[in-house]
Amino acid sequence: MGTFIVEGERELRGTVSVSGSKNAALPIIFATLLTHGVSRISNLPDIEDVNVALELIAEYGAVISRRGHLTVINTENLNYVIPSTALTERIRASTYLLGASLGRFGRACLGSFGGCNFSHRPIDMHLRAAEAYGAERLGDVLEAQAQNPFTIRFPKRSVGATVNSLLLASSVAGESRISGAAGEPHINTLIEFLRSAGAHIDTAEDTLTIRGGELHGGEVTIPGDMIEAGTYLALSLLNDGSVGVEGAEAPELSGFLFPFISSGASLVRRGGTLLLRGRLRSRTDITTLPYPGFPTDLQPIAAPVLGCFLGGSITDTVWEGRFGYLAELQKMGLSSAVEKNLAEIYPSRLHSSSVRALDLRGGAACLLAALTARGESRVESGELLFRGYERLCEKLLLLGAKIRYVS
Ligand code: UD1
Repeated sequence: MGTFIVEGERELRGTVSVSGSKNAALPIIFATLLTHGVSRISNLPDIEDVNVALELIAEYGAVISRRGHLTVINTENLNYVIPSTALTERIRASTYLLGASLGRFGRACLGSFGGCNFSHRPIDMHLRAAEAYGAERLGDVLEAQAQNPFTIRFPKRSVGATVNSLLLASSVAGESRISGAAGEPHINTLIEFLRSAGAHIDTAEDTLTIRGGELHGGEVTIPGDMIEAGTYLALSLLNDGSVGVEGAEAPELSGFLFPFISSGASLVRRGGTLLLRGRLRSRTDITTLPYPGFPTDLQPIAAPVLGCFLGGSITDTVWEGRFGYLAELQKMGLSSAVEKNLAEIYPSRLHSSSVRALDLRGGAACLLAALTARGESRVESGELLFRGYERLCEKLLLLGAKIRYVS
């Protein structure tokens, strides 16, 4: 357990660099289990979730070396194991072992999955894909006597179910088809990796056609993390554009930027740096949607921003219960009211307080509020933020923040 201690209301300025995308890195780490050879992954972020995922694949016998920003993973000699619960329950992405382990060994263990518990997180669609592939469930174990190419149509967009289906389809000879697939940029990075490892994957709107088989080592560069970029762009807006964000792709962020720009903010591009500045001159209404809509992961980050301007609303259509963090922000004076999946955020003056990170992005929202509020604030359970933000204190200190982390 660790705590961030933040002296708020300091003017932040300078440029912050975005690290590699967590949500792209995690599926690719698990996808290496399908390959027979050596994979080279550049720009893997040094964050807790990635470190846990690497420990998990090491349990199967993957040999990993990390040199600077290049990670080399050798998966020639692997053995089926039941992964340690102590690791699987630390990250949500351990669900990707379902596709990776079934694809490589014809068996997978449905242990306890971790991650942010902001809502009930079903895996019925993942299991439907596993069944279509030929797996049967015996208690906590999935076993595939035969591994078949398959066709599946998902009734809603799910990043997790799309990843697992892609892993299964890439591991099996013959043509599989996934309709209703999620189209997040991190799905495209996974596709790029699987193609480099020998899978043939065609994409047409929300349908993926895959011809898989035995994969060899692959190669990929992890792009910048759009959620980290959005977090620092929110800080940019709170500091009237004096914070520049480097390594972020503006088109990927359009769903996030749209409501702020509609309310009066401007996005300024200076070389490879993005700034978000100006004032929000009207209420800002946000609705989260699958990509390219406003990302659910960035709605907690938006809440303190709305409160510092003229308020507005957040409707989360992806996760109904994702507003627990607002009770923490209320301790800092952020006034809000929640009904089902709709939160109304009122214009507020933030003050210092002691709050707790309930999950990764809710914790980031608390930190953003602490940087903005007058006086010294504490964000407890701060270790949760290291799951997704690389060199967090270092990056904020470079912008002029007064922040320290005590464990
Ligand atoms: C979702 C986000 C992802 C984000 C992550 C963590 C979307 C589409 N995905 O991904 O960008 O990084 O949360 O915040 O915005 N569902 C089912 N059955 C399943 C799987 C999912 O009903 O088997 C439902 C979920 O309840 C949810 C929706 O589908 O309402 C999206 O879930 P999914 O994309 O799988 O979640 P994550 O992969 O965790």
